[in-house]
Amino acid sequence: MSIIVTGGAGFIGSNFIHYLLEKNINEKVVCIDKLTYAGNLSSLKNCFENLNFSFYKEDIKNERGIQSIFDKEKPDIVVNFAAESHVDRSIENPSIFLETNILGTQVLLDASRKYGIKRFHQVSTDEVYGDLPIDRKDLLFTENNPIKASSPYSASKAGADLLVLAYYRTYGTPITISRCSNNYGPYHFPEKLIPLMIINALKGKQLPIYGDGLNVRDWLYVKEHCSAIDTIIRKGKVGEVYNIGGNSEKSNLEVVQAIIKYLNKGEILFVKDRAGHDRRYAINADKIKKELGWVPTISFETGIKNTIEWYLSNTDWWEKIISGEYKYYYAKHYPKEKK
Ligand code: NAD
Ligand code: TYD
Repeated sequence: MSIIVTGGAGFIGSNFIHYLLEKNINEKVVCIDKLTYAGNLSSLKNCFENLNFSFYKEDIKNERGIQSIFDKEKPDIVVNFAAESHVDRSIENPSIFLETNILGTQVLLDASRKYGIKRFHQVSTDEVYGDLPIDRKDLLFTENNPIKASSPYSASKAGADLLVLAYYRTYGTPITISRCSNNYGPYHFPEKLIPLMIINALKGKQLPIYGDGLNVRDWLYVKEHCSAIDTIIRKGKVGEVYNIGGNSEKSNLEVVQAIIKYLNKGEILFVKDRAGHDRRYAINADKIKKELGWVPTISFETGIKNTIEWYLSNTDWWEKIISGEYKYYYAKHYPKEKK
């Protein structure tokens, strides 16, 4: 059995690769990653010693490059994490989001068809459903909610989802899709809320909260997302969409206050709101529970404590991101290859 994991040098992809290799079930894990600013090989450091692991620096949009990897590795399963993932960057420059998130997915789908992949899993997001009001706690996203994206990021992810579903309907490609809420945990790039706030507090910088800080996200510890995807690729029904959530709605202010309380430092600064800022995300994850038996088990209190402690004991990992040194890891690791 061989699994291709795209975007495996990013936050969730690297956690997923660690999750698979730690299961130690003698499956080949093949990582494909372009190593954009968000890709970091030091997040996969120990994996390179594992004989079941291999890595290709490649762009998912490069059809020839992708086909030659499929040719060589003959994968059974493809899990597509590769994406441009930051909403604020998508507001600054939408085009790369459409290119990677939609066209890149199409290249992977075509290769998956050509090589008769047993399962193509698309890692999507709850953001494709748009947002919910904060004063209607009874409303949650189900898999039947209409797609109603708000940002160029979520619109590009929605476009990819529609393409994946179209490949199932038109070509019978054996796909599944998961739509997950906000993740947090180790190896999270410090442009996103939780790692940014932890690092700013440790560095004595102010903690910028957009708008009134009352926007709500449902937070899931990243390891739980990994176990949910692993469950779907093995037990999920082809052609289906599964929501994944943490049952843990928090306002941004609550999240930041929890970090300040744990570290006993950090000063909040309210800043201009994000354009088109989604008010609330909340997930109904009954389908994956009923059909596949998956439920989240890690509380926000435990998850945020683990996360803060990870950032406290892995200062080297994030200091190298802040200094830019992490970008040279690939050149050091593969000195004979072209950059
Ligand atoms: P990330 O930005 O940390 O990582 C993305 C990875 O993809 C990086 O390693 C990057 O180098 C790679 N990549 C980008 N463009 C590429 C290309 N053209 N070819 C090959 N590799 C490329 O993102 P993340 O937070 O780990 O998210 C992973 C996936 O999960 C994304 O598809 C995202 O939409 C989805 N998702 C994320 C969250 C979350 O809270 N972070 C929640 C739900 C869904
Ligand atoms: P983010 O981590 O970018 O994830 P997403 O936009 O995909 O949910 O942001 C999480 C929430 O935190 C979102 O409501 C925007 C807010 N936010 C801030 O208030 N300040 C910040 O500096 C950042 C990066 C995010």
